Amino acid sequence: VIESDSTVQHARGPFASGDRVQLTDPRGRHNTIVLRTGGTFQSHHGYFRHDDLIGQPEGSVITNTEGVEYLALRPLLADYVMSMPRGAAVVYPKDAAQIVTMADVFPDATVVEAGVGSGALTLSLLRAVGDGRLVSIERRADFAEIARGNVRAFFGAEPASWQLQVGDFADVIGQVCAPGTVDRVILDLLAPWENIAAAATALTPGGVFCAYVATTTQLSRLAEALRADGRWAEPSAFETLVRGWHLEGLSVRPDHRMQAHTGFLLIVRRLADGVTAPMRKRRPAPGAYGEDYQPHDDLDDWSPEELGERPVSDKKVRKILRGLASDTASAADITPAPDVAPEGTS
Ligand SMILES: C[S@@+](CC[C@H](N)C(=O)[O-])C[C@H]1O[C@@H](n2cnc3c(N)ncnc32)[C@H](O)[C@@H]1O
Repeated sequence: VIESDSTVQHARGPFASGDRVQLTDPRGRHNTIVLRTGGTFQSHHGYFRHDDLIGQPEGSVITNTEGVEYLALRPLLADYVMSMPRGAAVVYPKDAAQIVTMADVFPDATVVEAGVGSGALTLSLLRAVGDGRLVSIERRADFAEIARGNVRAFFGAEPASWQLQVGDFADVIGQVCAPGTVDRVILDLLAPWENIAAAATALTPGGVFCAYVATTTQLSRLAEALRADGRWAEPSAFETLVRGWHLEGLSVRPDHRMQAHTGFLLIVRRLADGVTAPMRKRRPAPGAYGEDYQPHDDLDDWSPEELGERPVSDKKVRKILRGLASDTASAADITPAPDVAPEGTS
């Protein structure tokens, strides 16, 4: 268990030493720096002193020694997630927003999430539960450390509402949450169907189970496993496509590029104990379970690679952890997402 005892506050007001600041140059490229008294931001075209930004209001423009102007703002949660150090794939902000709203994560809720990976979804869930409780379960100790580093870097400290546990969801949840006390279970892991029983035990009647999966085979297997388990209402599933727009004079049109696929969300409610889900009135479409339908028993033997997971080398994880440990962590240590401009150094 990683203890946390500090109350986290959102950074506001004039820039101070220790603040994370996103600089936007005249070409729209971002550089993220951590302000330090006596520090400098050096680029190929001049530099400025951090001291000249410290004390200035957020949204200020700072000019460097070569006359290059930078707009200075604290990164939003979505900005931070898209540029933060990552081991595993992250839940993108568009999906995190859907999870918070469609799984109805409310202030004061008791929420359990697994796996934690790099902690991207964790940031949104911590914001949403407020003074509630978020238990984050991750089977890989090194990924849990990356998530902890990202939570600390974003909030400035570990929120008192947060409990990070290393282990398998199904083993850990019963140790940290009494049966029937959890309001929401959010899973972002390869085989959510293996965790249905543990989630059902932990959830309160009416509680929400939400799973984020990358492939249709996972989605189908999960839906059928939930129906077979019988302790759930009908699941619903959807994906979220967000298309950015170019806004320039008369050239107002969709962007040429977009994130075409991230994952699907499945959401389902826990029934009260002893209740049988009402029979569905609507019959499945002809052929949905026809002769060609393959029940998923033969999918017990799956591998992460078959489900599309890319292995992360120990060397990369060590590099990320070194970067997070460094007080002067800068965007140079950060792996930018493919659609984010490369970041510079402070
Ligand atoms: C895609 S990553 C999660 C990303 C994370 N939600 C984020 O937004 O950064 C999936 C993680 O689930 C973890 N995992 C897989 N099965 C697990 C299980 N049964 N219990 C706990 N963690 C698990 C993996 O180690 C991996 O770190």
